[in-house]
Amino acid sequence: MCGIVGAIQRDAGVVQTLLEGLRLLEYRGYDSAGVAVLDAGAIAIRRKAGRLERLELALTDGALSAARAGIGHTRWATHGPPSDENAHPHTDAEGRVALVHNGIVENWAELRAELEASGVRFASDTDTEVLAHLVGREVARGSSLFDAVRASLARVRGYYAIAALSLEEQGARLVCARSGPPLAVAAGPDGVYLASDVLALIAHTRDVVFLEDGDVAELELGRAPRVTRIDGTPVERPARRVEWDPEAAGKGSFPHFMLKEIHEQPDVLARTAFDRLRLESGDVDFGVPGFSDAELRAIDRVQVVACGTALHAGWIARYLIEGLARVPVDVDYASEFRYREPVLSASTLALAISQSGETADTLAALRLARSLGARTTAICNVLGSTLVREAQATILTQAGPEIGVASTKAFVAQCVAAYLFAVRLGRARGVLSLQQGRELVSDLRLLRPQMESLLGERAVSEVRAIARQNQSQRGFLFLGRGINYPIALEGALKLKEISYVHAEGYPAGEMKHGPIALIDPEMSILVVASRGPLAEKVRSNLEQVRARGGHVIVIGSDEESIAKSDEHVRVPVCSEWLSPILNVIPLQLVAYHMADLKGLDIDKPRNLAKSVTVE
Ligand code: AGP
Repeated sequence: MCGIVGAIQRDAGVVQTLLEGLRLLEYRGYDSAGVAVLDAGAIAIRRKAGRLERLELALTDGALSAARAGIGHTRWATHGPPSDENAHPHTDAEGRVALVHNGIVENWAELRAELEASGVRFASDTDTEVLAHLVGREVARGSSLFDAVRASLARVRGYYAIAALSLEEQGARLVCARSGPPLAVAAGPDGVYLASDVLALIAHTRDVVFLEDGDVAELELGRAPRVTRIDGTPVERPARRVEWDPEAAGKGSFPHFMLKEIHEQPDVLARTAFDRLRLESGDVDFGVPGFSDAELRAIDRVQVVACGTALHAGWIARYLIEGLARVPVDVDYASEFRYREPVLSASTLALAISQSGETADTLAALRLARSLGARTTAICNVLGSTLVREAQATILTQAGPEIGVASTKAFVAQCVAAYLFAVRLGRARGVLSLQQGRELVSDLRLLRPQMESLLGERAVSEVRAIARQNQSQRGFLFLGRGINYPIALEGALKLKEISYVHAEGYPAGEMKHGPIALIDPEMSILVVASRGPLAEKVRSNLEQVRARGGHVIVIGSDEESIAKSDEHVRVPVCSEWLSPILNVIPLQLVAYHMADLKGLDIDKPRNLAKSVTVE
């Protein structure tokens, strides 16, 4: 997944604007970056493999400081390794058009063959360069950039968010388009702008137009963006007010976004839950359509689809919905669900969970579920994302922008949203009494100070000591039972993705069916042990590990498990339904401190991207 930006300004200095935008989008992909601007009547391009800093260095000569119009790109490579030549922007042979692209041109090979047969010589291995030549050829035939982009995209199969500029337009217009990956445009007091993520727009204006799949937009100073379909049919796309605080996109006093976002989690709980709780009626009010008693009573099954960390929240949703609302729940990887010919009905609720709302597999799974007649609901963190626009109902999480590639606060927000949904569903179905509803609502209100206690100096120093003690281990096994089994999965994923150490999450009861063979002094076993109904079972699994000389780390509230451990982080006692939200915090911090001790790039782990908008 990549990040694209563009701007036409009243004043000079567009290079700085582009770089500031790319810095906010670097979490989307960071193996190369580049800009193209109109300068002194020509298209000037600077692009560099590696992090954005290398591109910034290439621009310190100030040679392009007078430019007012340009586009920029930060890349997560799909076709062609990271290199200066493969970095975007790409141009046509005559250098009359420059273009940046997020996505995949699936029919790039046949288009490239056609272009080469007509004498075009390619300068890169990328699919994107095909687009630059197609648009350049149309412009050479006399088309406006807007028409040239539309005509070229009519030949393309695949996913794209693109932006283009041309010599002919001399910086007076930029053209952009999307089908798949997100793209938003905006007109502010000082210019017009485009970006893959609102984060790069809200410094200029809060009124943002989210383009839809198949839209093409033309930006020009002094007027609202002109939006049509690829065939030229005009469409109205109203601007939406984005309330995110631009400061939220900064690190503040934290060394990494991930650590800042871990510490934001108590506030995220409050923002996601507290104004939706109704203590008097022991219920939840989402304040949006789709969650009435009648609508929810019509559901007889829930099918969760998601990827990665969001899927772990989906597993927790299963325990909550089945436990509190007594509705059967299936959970599946979106990438598996979309190809296994699932059986759904009109009384199935497809619940898609996604932080970004742009994950290709999750979107495809949601669309398949809808085509099979299921109702669709999303739990999502990004207003205006594709998932929010396509789902019939949405529970918006209020985590704010999550920049760290390893998801933390969005995960907690997803778990909170799942809890709220399970309470609403249980109350709508009459499975939860008024008293039960009131208890569940008040339990959630008690959670915030307990989360904060896990972020205090003492708890963090305990975690740091565990990370230091175990940083040379060959591997890690994370064990959990019941609603904390998905927390074992999530703890393992966090450790894998930011410290590059092998880690596996397992149901604790499964350990004796194979993984127990892995236990030796170089393998650390992290056991999530809550003082819940399964505490006794977890203790016996823990004994099985110790009997084989395994190194046991307990995270949880069960004192007897803590007494049997080599190391531990004590977690406050809370409702078992909410224990995952507390137990995950020390696991997030173990992964963070392990990666920090190893000196790794925590916010931009190797090979990863924040949202995978391609298959
Ligand atoms: C989370 O730490 C990972 N970066 C990744 O698994 C992520 O959860 C997954 O790609 C889903 O993203 P989404 O929530 O934006 O759909």
